[in-house]
Amino acid sequence: MRINYNGMTIFVKDNYESMSKKAAALVAAQVTLKADSVLGLATGSTPEGMYQALVQMYLQDEVDFSEAISFNLDEYYPIDASNPQSYHYYMEEKFFKHVNFKEGNNHLPDGKALDVEEACKAYDEAIYEHGIDLQVLGIGNNGHIGFNEPDVHFESSTHLVKLDVGTIEANARFFETIEEVPTRAVSMGIKNIMHAKKIILIASGEAKADIIEAMIFGDITPKVPASILQLHNDVTMILDQAAAGKILAKLMAA
Ligand code: GLP
Repeated sequence: MRINYNGMTIFVKDNYESMSKKAAALVAAQVTLKADSVLGLATGSTPEGMYQALVQMYLQDEVDFSEAISFNLDEYYPIDASNPQSYHYYMEEKFFKHVNFKEGNNHLPDGKALDVEEACKAYDEAIYEHGIDLQVLGIGNNGHIGFNEPDVHFESSTHLVKLDVGTIEANARFFETIEEVPTRAVSMGIKNIMHAKKIILIASGEAKADIIEAMIFGDITPKVPASILQLHNDVTMILDQAAAGKILAKLMAA
């Protein structure tokens, strides 16, 4: 199902697999139409299926990343790239090592930078120099995008974040103990994200249903960082039925 609402395109897919395939198809289309596309990439459990689908497409010669460039949204801090919990490791294992990006074309915030402020500035400059064509986003249960946590204002550029207790709890499932979850992260800011020409947001599962409703129908507020997407002029949301559970009736009635 495809619905247009408030300038956004919303696809509601039957399940996680079809959501993932739709997202992969849009990423592949972007890179096919513009070989040197700059992709903004996300981590978390939601995009895993999308990366798997893209790897399959690559193996079947349906997509080529040889000219593409990527910038990831975020990385824990401090963390070593070789740590299996790092987003460097995640991207390498789940995507980069299986496809054909050129060496040096994949960028992530440095989780080990000695001068974080300087590293954030350099990351911003690199992003603005290239310009992101397509930004892929997941969404946290509290409405965070990247690691832009609910706040009293929108943080614009790449910055060091203190993670919310809820985010640490949600991400503890990837670690042995909750004490191992880093309490800080480096994240692109809202302006970096909003600067992307196109944005795709994917969400799956009932646990995301309330925040999806708040993002689409609620006030635009830094308390729900993803609500700012209402102001972007090229957003596509790809949800599964469960994540769309609270909005379907409203969208039909709209
Ligand atoms: C993580 C990431 C986000 C991600 C979100 C949701 O902490 N920093 O980029 O979108 O939380 O994660 P998941 O897809 O596992 O629900």
